[in-house]
Amino acid sequence: MSVRILGIESSCDETASAVVADGREILSSVVASQIDIHRKYGGVVPELASREHLRQIVPVVREAISQAGMELSDVDAVGVTYGPGLVGALLVGITYGKTLAQALGKPLVPVNHLEGHVHAVFLEAHKSGRVPKLPAVCLIVSGGHTVLYEVSLHDSGNGTFAYKKIGQTRDDAAGEAYDKVAKLLALGYPGGPILDRLAAAANGAPAPVKFGPTKTRGNALDFSFSGLKTAVLYHVREHCEYGSEILAREAALARGERKFEQLLPLCSAQTLGLVREFQNAVVRDLVDRTMMAVGQLSAESVLVSGGVAANSQLRVAFEERAKAAGVDAFFPSRALSTDNAAMIAAAAYSRFRAGEFGDASLNANPALKLA
Ligand code: KG4
Ligand code: ZN
Repeated sequence: MSVRILGIESSCDETASAVVADGREILSSVVASQIDIHRKYGGVVPELASREHLRQIVPVVREAISQAGMELSDVDAVGVTYGPGLVGALLVGITYGKTLAQALGKPLVPVNHLEGHVHAVFLEAHKSGRVPKLPAVCLIVSGGHTVLYEVSLHDSGNGTFAYKKIGQTRDDAAGEAYDKVAKLLALGYPGGPILDRLAAAANGAPAPVKFGPTKTRGNALDFSFSGLKTAVLYHVREHCEYGSEILAREAALARGERKFEQLLPLCSAQTLGLVREFQNAVVRDLVDRTMMAVGQLSAESVLVSGGVAANSQLRVAFEERAKAAGVDAFFPSRALSTDNAAMIAAAAYSRFRAGEFGDASLNANPALKLA
């Protein structure tokens, strides 16, 4: 009999639930995004996120169970994200998960959200019949995190992974830089998906400014994105020709016209060139440092996860560089790259097998570390 784990995720602005069998097979995955609620504030508003999780958690879990063709009582364990994330948001999922586990008399498995992102890669790899070789270097790159880990099998032989943090952002996460640059260019929220497409549409438009590689003192595997974001801001402020198109896009966004097809005609070649140059700089920094880590650790594979892993240029760049280095690169699908609960249920499976259970005292840990 397979072990079917119900996963619950509510650490940020997605209320998600999923059922995964044996940590590998996704039986259902439901994600209720709150983007429409937070959009007008240009970022996630914690109080609104908690309130929306409260509204969504019961229907989302119910839908995940129903799509898996199961009853709640068929679940073998409940895996829930307990950090890192927004405390009020986490508490909604934790409280519901604890209550459910207790009522069903099934084990509760606390899951680190970041370990979920690592497992998203393994879930996807399993679908295509490939298994990433360890040790691996894993880049988790999202709106809240930009961090590099060495991933290996735990010495205890209990099947769980061991993690060592080898680099992290000193300031903004890469996704945060995307969101802030999109905001200052009046390209809506979240910024990543639209900037990704506009950069692809640049079609060789010349870069109006050049962004050099970021220098960080100390650990060469650390990232920094706030300087790049500020450089975009100064460039735009110093060039008044951006002003009128920014106003036009603000007006379009106010009318609810935020699709790529609607915003593209409102972008000059200069703006497209700027977006492309910004993305070139982000991608170059992420890929260079991650591949440096692969070389230093003689890693067998490179794993890339988190919302920014959906970026098309980042994927191509990683594939090329990994191939040249003789290692395999693994990404989750776009749906598994951004926050979801299938990755939480998959991470919960290895902890379940190792007997790492939680109890009624489980609390949110907003600053929880993976290593
Ligand atoms: O993992 P995620 O859903 O939530 C967090 O934990 O933050 O990631 C969301 C982030 C946002 O900052 C969004 O702009 C970025 O991922 N993102 C992208 C792309 N799709 C989403 N960034 C670059 N290119 C994309 N295609
Ligand atoms: Zn995440």
